[in-house]
Amino acid sequence: MFQLVLGVLVIGLVYVLLVETLFKKSQCKGKREMSGRTVIITGGNTGIGKATAMELAGRGARVILACRNQQKAESAISDIMKVTGSTDVVYMQLDLSSLRSVRSFTEIFLKAEPRLDLLINNAGLIADGRTEDGFGIEFGVNHLGHFLLTCLLLDRLKESPEGRVITMSSMAHRWGKIDFDALVANKDLGTGRYSWQFFQAYCNSKLCNVLFTHELAKRLKGTNVTCYSVHPGIVKTELSRHVSLWQKVFIEPVAWLLFLDPTTGAQTTLHCALQEGIEPLSGRYFSCCAAQDVSAKAKDDAVAKKLWEVSERLSGLC
Ligand SMILES: NC(=O)c1ccc[n+]([C@@H]2O[C@H](COP(=O)([O-])OP(=O)(O)OC[C@H]3O[C@@H](n4cnc5c(N)ncnc54)[C@H](OP(=O)(O)O)[C@@H]3O)[C@@H](O)[C@H]2O)c1
Ligand SMILES: *[C@@H]1O[C@H](CO)[C@@H](O)[C@H](O)[C@H]1NC(C)=O
Repeated sequence: MFQLVLGVLVIGLVYVLLVETLFKKSQCKGKREMSGRTVIITGGNTGIGKATAMELAGRGARVILACRNQQKAESAISDIMKVTGSTDVVYMQLDLSSLRSVRSFTEIFLKAEPRLDLLINNAGLIADGRTEDGFGIEFGVNHLGHFLLTCLLLDRLKESPEGRVITMSSMAHRWGKIDFDALVANKDLGTGRYSWQFFQAYCNSKLCNVLFTHELAKRLKGTNVTCYSVHPGIVKTELSRHVSLWQKVFIEPVAWLLFLDPTTGAQTTLHCALQEGIEPLSGRYFSCCAAQDVSAKAKDDAVAKKLWEVSERLSGLC
């Protein structure tokens, strides 16, 4: 009997501890005006991106879902319109695993849309494989595609009175490594031989997202554009869709008990989009609706600068 009570107590304590740390919830309180403003959200058809699109559309923004699958995007748009009453949500084709697609997206966007106020680099994946241009898929989609997209849209963002760029990272960036030699040799960060399948490559790409934002903020000094990287929390989405069955057996029960729902998972992104007065924090990493400290490797000036220059070359910008 005593053991049973003790067991229940310990489980309860661990649960409370987890809910207060790794799975902590937060709430965006920002009130920045969104009507008349245009937002691009990459991968806005599901998960955190869709929840973000829902809120921004509800606040009157013109929302462009930059997605690779038209059918999925259109079904998300009809959900968003039904819930928010907005009629200003549109689909534009973007496949981040193709630099050609990124270029054609920006060409069409810049011709069709007179303004851009907020770019949310949300799309991301954990998967195995290569992009159209031969890069490791996580480096290519999570970092390089968004790098090129952002660079090609910067001039339009600078015309906005207060443009912002938000890039989804993850706490997984802590386990990331940037190996420039491997990048040159393999078109991927790392050796390609990972103990935990493609998880290491995911962490590497998420470290790129933090370093990209760090360097971008410097390059944006003196403009009205600011930028932020985000850990959304651990959120129940389709992100684990390519994870193997035996890993899912472990993830699913925890997910059911503890993972945040996508609306809660969108709060830190929304904070970076809507909170007034965070401009002095440009370049920083946010989670739980607040700027957080990162380790030295995630704010290394020299590595961030080199990653930027290498990315310019790899994406064909120079
Ligand atoms: N869920 C978490 O716990 C968690 C934690 C930390 C960080 N994050 C980050 O949060 C972001 C959103 O993830 P999520 O959890 O909402 O995952 P999700 O439900 O899997 O959504 C990912 C989105 O990215 C899109 N996408 C993937 N590859 C693409 C490509 N090549 N071109 C264009 N779009 C592409 C997907 O489109 P399709 O539907 O067509 O595949 C989907 O819309 C990601 O950057 C992820 O790394 C998530
Ligand atoms: C940048 O911000 C300043 C101060 O808010 C404002 O006066 C100026 O018009 C803005 N620039 C643009 C391009 O909107």
